[in-house]
Amino acid sequence: GIRTNRICCIGAGYVGGPTMATIALKCPHLQVDIVDMNEERISRWNSDDLPIYEPGLGEVVKACRGKNLFFSTDVKKGVEEADIIFASVNTPTKTQGVGKGRAADLRFIESVGRTIAQFANRSKIVIEKSTVPIKTAEAIARVLSANEAASGSRKNFWILSNPEFLAEGTAMADLDQPDRVLIGGQDQDAIGVLVDIYANWVPRERILCTNLWSSELSKLVANAFLAQRVSSINSISRLCERTGADVKEVSRAVGADTRIGPKFLNASVGFGGSCFQKDILNLVYICQQFGLEEEGAYWQQVVDMNDHQKVTFTSKIIQALFNTVTKKKIAVFGFAFKKDTGDVRETPALLVCDMLMKDGAIVHVYDPKVAIEDALQEFKYHDLEVNQSQFIFSTSAEEACDGAHAIVVLTEWDEFKKYDYQKFYSKMMKPAFLFDGRNMLDHAGLEKIGFEVHALGKARVATEHHHQDFVMRAGSKPLGTS
Ligand code: NAD
Ligand code: UDX
Repeated sequence: GIRTNRICCIGAGYVGGPTMATIALKCPHLQVDIVDMNEERISRWNSDDLPIYEPGLGEVVKACRGKNLFFSTDVKKGVEEADIIFASVNTPTKTQGVGKGRAADLRFIESVGRTIAQFANRSKIVIEKSTVPIKTAEAIARVLSANEAASGSRKNFWILSNPEFLAEGTAMADLDQPDRVLIGGQDQDAIGVLVDIYANWVPRERILCTNLWSSELSKLVANAFLAQRVSSINSISRLCERTGADVKEVSRAVGADTRIGPKFLNASVGFGGSCFQKDILNLVYICQQFGLEEEGAYWQQVVDMNDHQKVTFTSKIIQALFNTVTKKKIAVFGFAFKKDTGDVRETPALLVCDMLMKDGAIVHVYDPKVAIEDALQEFKYHDLEVNQSQFIFSTSAEEACDGAHAIVVLTEWDEFKKYDYQKFYSKMMKPAFLFDGRNMLDHAGLEKIGFEVHALGKARVATEHHHQDFVMRAGSKPLGTS
């Protein structure tokens, strides 16, 4: 039998933290140790100022920490004492070498394998929680068994794949009531151990068991399908702008078909987040590795459409502001890649702000949860230079609007709906523009105040027709003279 009362998770990030906190909450009979080599992160997990913002997380950590949930930098001890080890480390896109810009960088996963090989004193179940390319379990198995052979000791490692489907901003609710839990493995006993843990709160019919490769691949495919819906509706949003259709109405009509469903059909400035782009690029790379060029090209289009969306959205802003934003103050509402998170990894706000600043704009950002240091770090990660006199963080939306030419909404934070836009309008330059990159505000109401509103996927009927009329009249003979 496999002993199971101690769990260790390597990697205390957006996935490791919330996932393990939930296991600790639901399984008081288990002890959960989360270890990470990042000292600052661990000390914040042990403080009142958690390193990630996630609604509901603080309460659960408070309830379990010091009882059956522990955060530490002592990886060795965590590995030694655990029966089950989750690997929840980052698997970013490679930034150099073979597969640069597409392949997943597996150095952290590999280092976890080597750490386990080094410190494991007995048989253990090793679980891939990170999102990994198909066949990674085989690589981990090789690292473990090669080291075992070299040291002459005989230990048994069972490798399982258990990808995580939580979304940021709703992680605790997603973990509490997952649509499904996915477990891939070869050994039925090892699979059974993990099933029994989840069964403490997840109905058994929602726990899907597959072979290792189906499980690893399903995670990439799920993200590719979700992102594809966003790119699909975004591509349609532009057709709407040209034709007089309204993308919100199209989404509603299309999503009402139960075969399609209503979720993930909101047109936006583009999808962001640490997962979608990385996982699709990884899928593209894997297709190419297996000689499937057309299949890879098909999925690459989802990412290309997303880049296109960010560029056209920003071009529209510059164009509307009389083709230049040089020295103009622009109020940017939201920098996080979605609401209810402080995470800025791959946020569409990065490219939008970069393009505006390259055109000379002074960008004033207000985001309820994002720290300027994290935003600057993301620019750096993407090798983008920031002139700090052009990139300012405001402490309130009102401050960002003072003297601004335009408001640009980039994250769908609930509080943005509740503002007194009349007040903002009175402080702005005229004409006062508003570009809603999330299609979330009351556009008719804003127009009434006096804003020139640019929504996504909806032509500006009133003014543009007026403008067109004017152009047409100017270009033709006066009425009644033909
Ligand atoms: P993250 O960067 O927030 O956290 C990873 C942590 O692992 C970091 O704190 C890092 O210091 C630590 N780490 C790396 N190597 C280590 C080692 N050898 N020893 C100890 N600690 C080490 O990443 P994340 O967002 O939690 O994502 C983790 C994985 O989960 C990725 O593969 C990601 O694709 C996947 N995933 C993420 C999400 C999400 O919403 N963020 C959702 C589902 C799946
Ligand atoms: C995603 C997956 O949803 C999750 O299952 C997986 O485990 C990790 O990756 P996450 O990136 O946290 O989660 O957020 P998600 O809610 O999927 O949103 C991703 C991006 O798409 C965000 O930028 C969001 O604003 C955007 N989006 C989403 C849209 O633009 N329109 C939509 O209709 C839905």
